[in-house]
Amino acid sequence: MNKCNKNLKTSIDLIILGATGDLAHKKLFPALYNLYDDFSFKEKFNIIALGRQDLSNSEFCSKFNDTINPSQKRDLFYNKIEYIQCDFTKKEELKLLKNNLDKTCSSKILYLALPPVIYKDVIQALIEAQFNIPCEEHSTFTRIVLEKPFGNNLESAIELNKTILSGFKEKQVFRIDHYLGKEPIQNIFSFRFANNSFENIWSSKYIDNIQIKVLEDIGVEDRGSFYDANGALVDVFQNHILQMLSILTMDRPKEFTEEYIREEKNNILKTLIYKSSLKGQYDGYRDEDNVDKNSKRETFIAVKLDINSKRWENTPIYIQTGKYLNEKRTEISVVFKENEPNLFKEKNNPNVLKFLIQPELGIELKLLGKVPSISDYMLSDIDMVYRYSNFFRELKSEYEKLLIDCILGNQINFTRSDEIDNAWRLVDEIEDDIKEKEPLIYQKESKGPSNTDTFIEQDSRYWQ
Ligand code: BG6
Repeated sequence: MNKCNKNLKTSIDLIILGATGDLAHKKLFPALYNLYDDFSFKEKFNIIALGRQDLSNSEFCSKFNDTINPSQKRDLFYNKIEYIQCDFTKKEELKLLKNNLDKTCSSKILYLALPPVIYKDVIQALIEAQFNIPCEEHSTFTRIVLEKPFGNNLESAIELNKTILSGFKEKQVFRIDHYLGKEPIQNIFSFRFANNSFENIWSSKYIDNIQIKVLEDIGVEDRGSFYDANGALVDVFQNHILQMLSILTMDRPKEFTEEYIREEKNNILKTLIYKSSLKGQYDGYRDEDNVDKNSKRETFIAVKLDINSKRWENTPIYIQTGKYLNEKRTEISVVFKENEPNLFKEKNNPNVLKFLIQPELGIELKLLGKVPSISDYMLSDIDMVYRYSNFFRELKSEYEKLLIDCILGNQINFTRSDEIDNAWRLVDEIEDDIKEKEPLIYQKESKGPSNTDTFIEQDSRYWQ
């Protein structure tokens, strides 16, 4: 019997494909659990977990006992989850599921927490099972969420987009980059466009160079096979780093909407020019599980880029990212031009504005100030510091924020297909340049290859 009921039109089925995988285990389910109290509409929110394993509901839920602490709330949360064994590459199985779900005529969010290599088959099967079509009569919606990497080069990304857009409209597609859910990254919009002071000097007239670092202190862990096929360039640079760069350097959008913001970000991604790079690999990488013994894959990369625009001519961008370094830190430094001519006898250090993304969240402005004294006039670096921890408590995790965005249909923090394509255009060019190069080997827990400093110093500049 069809139980379609207009009163249920706001109910949402969050369908997680790949619910027994690592992402679901470490990120998605803990985020959903944390959101449990926030859902004013939680009564109408159902979590449908799809996996290939034959598990009972309680066997499935017990998998989260290490990532979700026991409590009464946890039991209530587990009650919201329905585990269904399903081969989601088979349209017949999906069709059966769709028919069952349609009995309550809910909106649907299809979350693909799957290895990207099977995206195409699964999306095709979802479309064939008509999962892409919302129920117009009851104004429900259907959205699809995809994890990065979206394709593994420009060609495959275009192909994948074609498959998706053969059934879904762009408005329904949520391409996740979890960096866009980080508070300090979202704050760059307000820093730049709510405060006039910096926006007026946001160009190569005043800014000498921009630096982005995504440093990690862990290795490839149990992802040897994925990592060896992709490397730092695809894993972090193509998405997280280029997204941060585009937000930092984009022109002011006409309005604070997904349409204008993504247009301006894309305008930057189109104009990025590859200048040079340095490739490294941590000692011992080739002994990791599922890694080729002769692998040339980069676990570290430094890249120099230019932006081909009037605003940014002569402001190079320096980027470094790598695994198994001596610290975990993500930050963006905007290095201002030096004060010339210098009125003071000492060396004139540049002012630096730092966006601290993690582990500390905040903004620092490095200035020069007078050292208090009776007669000498000496200068020293001083820091003006804003730390989130002094103002805000209990920030939501990236996945919590992005899931809410998706439920609300807000695409500002999700990437559009042309952004992805332009990022791949650049990455393909870099990949072509580096793929045959032998990586420079660096020690674990070091600062990366020894030439990393020379990479920037040859331009008479320094890592901040
Ligand atoms: C993921 C990469 O996208 O980002 C991982 O696949 C990386 O390799 C991770 O470790 C870093 O994310 P965060 O939020 O810890 O900086």
